[in-house]
Amino acid sequence: MKSAGGSDDAKQRAGEAAAQTVESGMTVGLGTGSTAAYAIRALGEAVDDGLDIVGVPTSFGARELAIECGIPLAGLDEVDGIDVAIDGADQIVLDTGNCIKGGGAAHSREKLVAGAADELHIVVDPTKTAETLDHTVAVEMLPDAHPVVSEKIESLGGEVTLRRAANKDGPVVTDNGNLVCDADFGAIDDPESLATDLSRLPGVVDHGLFVGYVTAVSVGSEDGVSTTTY
Ligand code: A5P
Repeated sequence: MKSAGGSDDAKQRAGEAAAQTVESGMTVGLGTGSTAAYAIRALGEAVDDGLDIVGVPTSFGARELAIECGIPLAGLDEVDGIDVAIDGADQIVLDTGNCIKGGGAAHSREKLVAGAADELHIVVDPTKTAETLDHTVAVEMLPDAHPVVSEKIESLGGEVTLRRAANKDGPVVTDNGNLVCDADFGAIDDPESLATDLSRLPGVVDHGLFVGYVTAVSVGSEDGVSTTTY
C-alpha cells in the first residue's frame, strides 16, 4: 500500500540528486513511483543534453515515462549488467538501509533489477524514514496461490489483505499477471529473517522487504538533500 508521502519538492530534490550521480556510459535501472519519476525526468533532460545511458525499466509505468522522456531502453536480458538502479521506497531505516517497497506493486521487478545492479540508490522524502520498519509488506503471488500463501503469511504473524484495484472490479493484477497482498507484521524487529521466511513460501513471486540491497539513500527535504551511503 502507498503511504501519502511528502511534498513534491522534497521528492524532486531526492530524485534529481540521484540522477546527477549518473555518468555517460552507464546502464541505469529506472525505478517506479512518484519519487523515482523525478529521477527519470532529470535523466531524460540530461540525455537531451548529451548524456549517453541505457535505461532498464522496473515496470510498465517506468518504461512509459522513460519513453516519453527520450531515454534509450533495453531489457534486462539485453544488457551486460546494471551500474546503478534508482528507485523509491515506502519506508526506510537510515541506520541500515533496509527498506520496504511495493506500494506500486512493482517490487518483484524492482528487486530483480536492484539485484542485477552494482548500486541501488533509494530516493525518498522525509516521511518515508523510520527507526524500525513497520509498514505493510507487499507480497506478489501466483493468482491461485492466494489462499495458501495468505494462510502461511498469517502463520508467520502477518495480517493479510488482498490488494483491491481502484478502477477495476476485483484485485490488483501486477505487470506480471499476478496478485498482491499487503501483510501487516507490526514492528519488524528482524527484517532479514522475515525476508527469508517470505521468500521460502511456495507461490510467492517476491515480497517488498529489501534487506542488504541499498548502497545509497537520498532524502530530499524543503531545504536540500541529505545522502547516506552504505
Ligand atoms: C513501487 O512498487 C514501489 O516500490 C515504489 O518505489 C514505492 O511505492 C515508492 O513510491 P513513491 O515514490 O510514489 O512513494
